[in-house]
Amino acid sequence: MARYLSTNDTTESALQREYMEKAVACVAQLEDSLGRKPQCCVTTFGCQMNARDSEKLLGILTQIGYLPVENEEDADFVIYNTCTVRDNANQRVYGRLGALHSLKKRKPHLKIALCGCMMQEESVIDKIKTSYRFVDLIFGTHNIFKFAQLLVTMFENQEMIIDIWHETDQIVEDLPVRRKYPYKSGVNIMYGCNNFCSYCIVPYVRGRERSRDPKEIVREIENMVRDGVVEVMLLGQNVNSYGKNLDVPVTFAQLLREVEQIDGLRRIRFMTSHPKDLSDELIDVMKHSDKICRHLHLPLQSGSDRILKAMNRRYTKAQYLALADRIRSAMPDIALTTDIIAGFPGETPADVDETIDVVRRVRFDNAFTFIYSRRTGTPAAQMSGQVPETVVHEGFDRILKVVQDTARERALLWQGQVMEALVEEVNEQDASLMTGRLSNNMLVHFPAKQSMAGRIVPVSLDTCHGFYYTGHITTQKDG
Ligand code: SAH
Ligand code: SF4
Ligand code: F3S
Repeated sequence: MARYLSTNDTTESALQREYMEKAVACVAQLEDSLGRKPQCCVTTFGCQMNARDSEKLLGILTQIGYLPVENEEDADFVIYNTCTVRDNANQRVYGRLGALHSLKKRKPHLKIALCGCMMQEESVIDKIKTSYRFVDLIFGTHNIFKFAQLLVTMFENQEMIIDIWHETDQIVEDLPVRRKYPYKSGVNIMYGCNNFCSYCIVPYVRGRERSRDPKEIVREIENMVRDGVVEVMLLGQNVNSYGKNLDVPVTFAQLLREVEQIDGLRRIRFMTSHPKDLSDELIDVMKHSDKICRHLHLPLQSGSDRILKAMNRRYTKAQYLALADRIRSAMPDIALTTDIIAGFPGETPADVDETIDVVRRVRFDNAFTFIYSRRTGTPAAQMSGQVPETVVHEGFDRILKVVQDTARERALLWQGQVMEALVEEVNEQDASLMTGRLSNNMLVHFPAKQSMAGRIVPVSLDTCHGFYYTGHITTQKDG
């Protein structure tokens, strides 16, 4: 088995810092010609991994002198960090690129960059080269750490710059990051995926599994905590196989034990867990932890053994149910959430019934149901028995109904209880309310000042509104 380097590449990070200095000069020149600070807008598509990457892009952009703005129209530099997990993600990017083209016609100095998972696909690059000539810079998932260097190249050249790598063993630490939230943050613990579920494009666009050194992870979280972070989300496509390829192998459960020791850190979350690799050691660590949140996202994908086999998920319905049982018996209050795919090739209504049976038995607190999307280059795209759209929708609707019913039932269980909530943002509909997140990942809205953001407070869960609560802050410990 190949061993992938996961040591911190310090030479590379020093080099990138030199490029950042050069980029500062380029941006200063732009500032002179505009007569104001240049503005940038980074739009993220896709998962938390991409959201974290966008924070890295923004770290560099702000360091070299850009001012981040929310609205694309106000920006002098627009970056799309793309996703390709399902085709609708790609279509959204193409749609928005059309609008960007008009913006660039009105504002010729506008720079446009595309990066992320979609850019790792050759067909996408071909399409952009022919139909979206106005894009200035394209890079992929493996060389995002080179962003400063690529920016300098972009400023020094007029033509489209394309730099896509097919693989990397580099992990470059110590580059600037600009977090979206002061009080919580994602933390990459590993990159890539080795699972090759037959429908999934992620292993092709994110490369092989590489784990970060646990010392680097702990150091990064300690720095975050010093900077006001109280909750971290450890990120990986399959966190349960964390550490297997390190020089000194470490299990995910061991990493959690170390993260738990960090003073001042209040909450730990992680995503995503593959059921086939979830160990009893992990259940035990979670059970005895004060900081690990009572939430586990455990993608099911399908409840049919035949479909699970064709998906290459490497567990059976019975194994999944037994695992869910072990988790719920160890932690009865834990929220279990999942992902389900409807319409995988060969799926029949009887297979959908099997999926629904698992939803009924596990009673998921929430489930994301997706319509199968055929991804070029994946084994499932070649499979016979692609399901007609109307049949897919029937199955999807049947699953969704049960998912919503069971999720509502589960949510009602907490009515009247007092639980700790991390105060997050101002409520979108009513500015007198703040939105808080419970350990089980449910949201609760309650009257509070904006200055409470980042605090963890006891909240009484007064009224259940289906999937969320309204309530009030209380001094009582438990109700
Ligand atoms: N690594 C994570 C999932 C990453 S993708 C895991 O293994 O669980 C997030 C979700 O997108 C998957 O759980 C799956 O439900 C869905 N997904 C992935 N590929 C898909 C496809 N081709 N069509 C529809 N849904 C897909
Ligand atoms: Fe995709 Fe499967 Fe890897 Fe998740 S575990 S990213 S679904 S291949
Ligand atoms: Fe999408 Fe890439 Fe994440 S394909 S789901 S952004 S890893």
